[in-house]
Amino acid sequence: MELRLRLLLLALICLHAPRWASAQQPEEATDLDHPFLAEAIQAFDHLRIRLGGSLQDRVVYDVGTESPCSPFTNVSNGLFGFSVGCLGMDRWDKLNDLFQRTGAIVTFGVNALYGRYNVRRSIWAGKWNSTNAYDFIKYTISKGYPVSSWEFGNELSGHGIGAKVDAKLYGKDVIEFKSILRQLYKAPLSQPLLLGPGGFFDQQWYSQLFETSGHGVVNALSHHVYNHGGGM
Ligand SMILES: *[C@@H]1O[C@H](CO)[C@@H](O)[C@H](O)[C@H]1NC(C)=O
Ligand SMILES: *[C@@H]1O[C@H](CO)[C@@H](O)[C@H](O)[C@H]1NC(C)=O
Repeated sequence: MELRLRLLLLALICLHAPRWASAQQPEEATDLDHPFLAEAIQAFDHLRIRLGGSLQDRVVYDVGTESPCSPFTNVSNGLFGFSVGCLGMDRWDKLNDLFQRTGAIVTFGVNALYGRYNVRRSIWAGKWNSTNAYDFIKYTISKGYPVSSWEFGNELSGHGIGAKVDAKLYGKDVIEFKSILRQLYKAPLSQPLLLGPGGFFDQQWYSQLFETSGHGVVNALSHHVYNHGGGM
C-alpha cells in the first residue's frame, strides 16, 4: 500500500484509539464492528496497536472489583480533567475479537497509578497496587488473548505530563510487575515483554529506573517523541 494512505489510516486509528476504553458510552465509543476499521487494520498486515495513552493510568479493569463499571467523566481536579474510568470485560472481549480477526499485534498499557495518591501538583507517590492488573492479566490469559507486550504506565517519567512518579518507586514496581508476568505466564517462552516507561526521555530518571529494577526486568525501554508538536 502507498505510504501516504498507510499514514492516513494510522492517523485515523490513532484518533479513535482514546475512545476504545470509554466504551461505556456507546454513542461515543468507536464502533468496533465498522468494516472500515477492520479493513484499515488488516491493510497494515499485522499492525501493532498500543492500547493506552493519556487516560490509561486512570483505567480500572472490571475484574474482581466491587464498584460499578462507570465511564470516564469530567471532574475539575482529575488527571487531564477526568475521573477514573472502567474497562468492562465485554468491551475487552470485543476488542480482542477485532484484533484476532485483523491480525493486529497488541501492546497493552497498564495503569501504573493504581493505588498511588496525588501529593501535590503533578507528583504522585505511594506504592502501586498490583491487584487489579493481576486479575486483568489473569482474565486475559484465561481467554487466550495474545498480548505481545505489557507496558507499564504512560508518560510518568522525568517531569511527566499530567503526573510524574519517582524513578525509584517506579523501579520497584516494575520488579513486582515482572514477577506477576512470570507467575501468570507459566511457560517462559510464552511470556510477553515488559515495556516501560513510555514517557519522555530524562537521562537521570531512566538510569535510576534501571539501577533500581536491575537487569532483565524491563525488556525494552520505550520513550515518546513528538517531533511535529503535541499529538503528532
Ligand atoms: C468536559 O470537558 C471538556 C473540556 O474541558 C469540554 O469540552 C466538554 O464539553 C466537557 N464535557 C462535559 C460532559 O461536561
Ligand atoms: C489494592 O486494591 C484492591 C482492589 O483492587 C483492594 O481490595 C486492596 O485493599 C488494595 N490493597 C491495598 C494494599 O491498598
